[in-house]
Amino acid sequence: LDDPSIQPSPLKPQRTFLDNASNALTNFLSGGGIQNMPVADGAISDLFSRPLFFALYDWFLEHGPVYKLAFGPKVFVVVSDPIVSRYILRENAFGYDKGVLADILEPIMGKGLIPADLNTWKSRRRALVPGFHSAYLEAMVRVFNDCAERTVSKLDALIKDAESKGSNVVDVEMEAEYSSLALDIIGLSVFNYDFGSVTKESPVIAAVYGTLAEAEHRSTFYIPYWKFPLSRWLVPRQRKFHADLGVINECLDDLIGRAQETRQQEDDIEALQQRDYSKVRDASLLRFLVDMRGEDVDNKQLRDDLMTMLIAGHETTAAVLTWSTFLLAQNPTIVTKVQQEIDTVLGDRRPTLEDLKNLKYTKLVIAEALRLYPQPPLLIRRSLQPDKLPGGHKGDPDGYSIPKGTDIFISVFNLHRSPYFWENPESFDPERFLRRRVDSSIPGWAGIDPTKLQGLYPNEIMADFAFLPFGGGPRKCVGDQFAFMEATIGLAVLLRKFSVELRGSPQEVELVTGATLHTKNGLWCKLSKRQS
Ligand code: HEM
Repeated sequence: LDDPSIQPSPLKPQRTFLDNASNALTNFLSGGGIQNMPVADGAISDLFSRPLFFALYDWFLEHGPVYKLAFGPKVFVVVSDPIVSRYILRENAFGYDKGVLADILEPIMGKGLIPADLNTWKSRRRALVPGFHSAYLEAMVRVFNDCAERTVSKLDALIKDAESKGSNVVDVEMEAEYSSLALDIIGLSVFNYDFGSVTKESPVIAAVYGTLAEAEHRSTFYIPYWKFPLSRWLVPRQRKFHADLGVINECLDDLIGRAQETRQQEDDIEALQQRDYSKVRDASLLRFLVDMRGEDVDNKQLRDDLMTMLIAGHETTAAVLTWSTFLLAQNPTIVTKVQQEIDTVLGDRRPTLEDLKNLKYTKLVIAEALRLYPQPPLLIRRSLQPDKLPGGHKGDPDGYSIPKGTDIFISVFNLHRSPYFWENPESFDPERFLRRRVDSSIPGWAGIDPTKLQGLYPNEIMADFAFLPFGGGPRKCVGDQFAFMEATIGLAVLLRKFSVELRGSPQEVELVTGATLHTKNGLWCKLSKRQS
């Protein structure tokens, strides 16, 4: 961050949609400006008959780890190689921006970290990252526990009700339950607002879901319909979107206003400065930003920061819990092992920060769920100037040259399921992170090295960018430890109490893709009280 060479690029294009379209068309007609790169020109039906990343996976096996995807006037370079990913995300991180993703998210997140221009990003990242310090994370353990216990109470009540009718099993749609749990947690931890969505519905919750659904729709839609003049007034889904955004903005403005009004009166400031969260009444990130960093930021920026956290931190964590449960429900031996660990480490106690160090197997289960179902499945970038990608991988000793404006998908899904880096990549095997794996046929890849784990959650460093659950480099997720802890506690608190099975077959739980991976019709499970 302090590297003076990191400057906003004067080359950064200020584009309109028409510019993009005509650039893309020119690019396409000229072979994408990228010489010799394999081209995947599969049938368009491949793209629409199933989630995009399945087609991207098949083409990866067919065309290799760097190929060009050309359909219609659009050209994307699809990367499934750890060395090239490391280069784009870390070594030349500032040679790229978020491209298409920023176009989609800017109307929702404004200048929040994900779509922000480089200058804003630098100053906001510097302000936000210290907010996730270890004392804050420790204070959040209480929030994770409180919210997970609410979900347990709700599920307990459903089972009790079933028992009164003569059954000890209840059908529950767990994806929706995890979504409510994650929403409550992010509301309380980021801006001390209790959505209470586990137990009730409210206009703000409806507006949050409406906005998330629109963000998702935009990310999978071919034409940026939201940019058409008057669409905001004429297209019903756009009218609804702006109404939803209005409701959330009003709620956030109100919270920011209240945090600012109480700023000077709070004796919490001293406790905050000393990182003593036992004395802080409101430990939220908003409180930290207002109290510690208040002068240098306007309310609109604060609102963009909060909105970004809300969106980035909600569905991602809900999805990890959903897919962990999906995988566990098919693997009773692994569930037993997790439950034994929970019993040994926690007994009947609430999990603490210290306990998380010892929930080693549960942590591997979460990491393995993230490997098989990464959120998001693709990382999106656009080159800000001509560049040369590292070569040496299969079929390309020299590295491809790419022109300025090249749109890139780093397929985390392909990396995580690559047969070149993982043994039996499709199988759910949490202990794989404990086995060393090297492959001398992949030049430059350092392999999977469990000695780099050192009690932490598996990460991109220990797998030399073949595992990218939270991205990598300077734009790596700011909430990675928060999310890992939240998911571990959520899973531990629930699995201690309940046994879970799928209601139907795993094949019935179809995948749909958006910004994150969802189930098509929910994750319907059979839940019962765990027999000790
Ligand atoms: C960025 C994943 C939870 C806030 C990212 C990126 C990934 C990611 C892959 C990098 C995107 C890119 O390089 O284009 C996840 C997953 C989560 C999670 C899988 C849950 C399991 C959270 C939470 C928060 C958060 C809980 C906040 C409370 C952010 C922000 C960025 C980000 C602000 C942008 C960082 C930047 O550009 O500097 N996340 N995330 N995420 N995440 Fe997360």
